Amino acid sequence: MTTIGFIGAGQIGGTLARLAIARGYDVIVSNSRGPATLTELVAELGDRARAGTPAEAAAEGDLVVVTIPVKAVPSVPVAELAGKLVIDTNNYYPQRDGQIGALDDGSTTVSGYLQQHLPTSAVVKAFNNIYFGDLGTLGVPTGTPGRIALSVAGDDPEARETVVAFIDELGFDAVDVGPLSESWRFEKDHTAYGLKSDVAGMTKALAEA
Ligand SMILES: NC(=O)c1ccc[n+]([C@@H]2O[C@H](COP(=O)([O-])OP(=O)(O)OC[C@H]3O[C@@H](n4cnc5c(N)ncnc54)[C@H](OP(=O)(O)O)[C@@H]3O)[C@@H](O)[C@H]2O)c1
Repeated sequence: MTTIGFIGAGQIGGTLARLAIARGYDVIVSNSRGPATLTELVAELGDRARAGTPAEAAAEGDLVVVTIPVKAVPSVPVAELAGKLVIDTNNYYPQRDGQIGALDDGSTTVSGYLQQHLPTSAVVKAFNNIYFGDLGTLGVPTGTPGRIALSVAGDDPEARETVVAFIDELGFDAVDVGPLSESWRFEKDHTAYGLKSDVAGMTKALAEA
C-alpha cells in the first residue's frame, strides 16, 4: 500500500495527506472544483503529492480517504472504489449537509450511509472524532505514555486492523469498536467525539455511550 487517494482535500484531508507523506506514502488529492484548484496544496505537500479528479483519486489510491461534507456522499465514485479499503472521516451536520432522512431517523450511521453507497468497498470509520489541528500536531511515537487514542469501526475486521496500524503509524493509538452498527458511539453528541484521551479513557467513553 503506497498511494493514498483523497476525496476531499480540506482541513482533514490536507492534514492526513501531510502526515501520510511524512511517513513515506504517495498521495493523490481531489476536491469538487478540480485539480487546478489544488496547485497550492500540492506545491506545499511536495514531490509525493499530485492532484486529480475524485474518480482518479479513487482509481489510483491503494487506500482511499473520503473526507467531505456528508451531503456530497452521493457523488463519491462507486466503481473505482470496488474492492478497496475506504476510510470515512465524515460527520453529519444538518446545518451544512441538509436533512438526510436515514441519519435523522437513526436507521443507519454516518459511515453506514457511505457503506450503503459503496456496497463493494470496505468502509472504515476513523479520524472523525479528532479536531484537524490536533490530528496534525498531537501524534507521538508508539508506546508514549498518554498517547491519544482514536476510534475505529467497520464491518470488515481485516480492514479495521489495517486502519488501526495506519493510525499507529501516524502517531495515535486506536480503539476498535467493531462493526459500523456500533460506530454511533463516536459520532457527534457523544463523549468520545473530540475526546482527547488515551486508550483507557476512550474505551470507557465508548462503552458508556
Ligand atoms: N475539521 C475538522 O476538525 C474535522 C474533524 C473530523 C472530521 N471532520 C469531518 O470530515 C469531513 C471533512 O471535513 P473538513 O473539515 O476537512 O472539511 P473542509 O475543510 O470543508 O473540506 C471539505 C473538502 O471536501 C471537498 N468536497 C466537497 N464536496 C466534494 C465532492 N462532491 N467531491 C469531492 N470533494 C468534495 C471540498 O472541496 P471543494 O472546496 O472543492 O468543494 C474540500 O476539499 C466532514 O464531514 C467533517 O465534518 C472534520
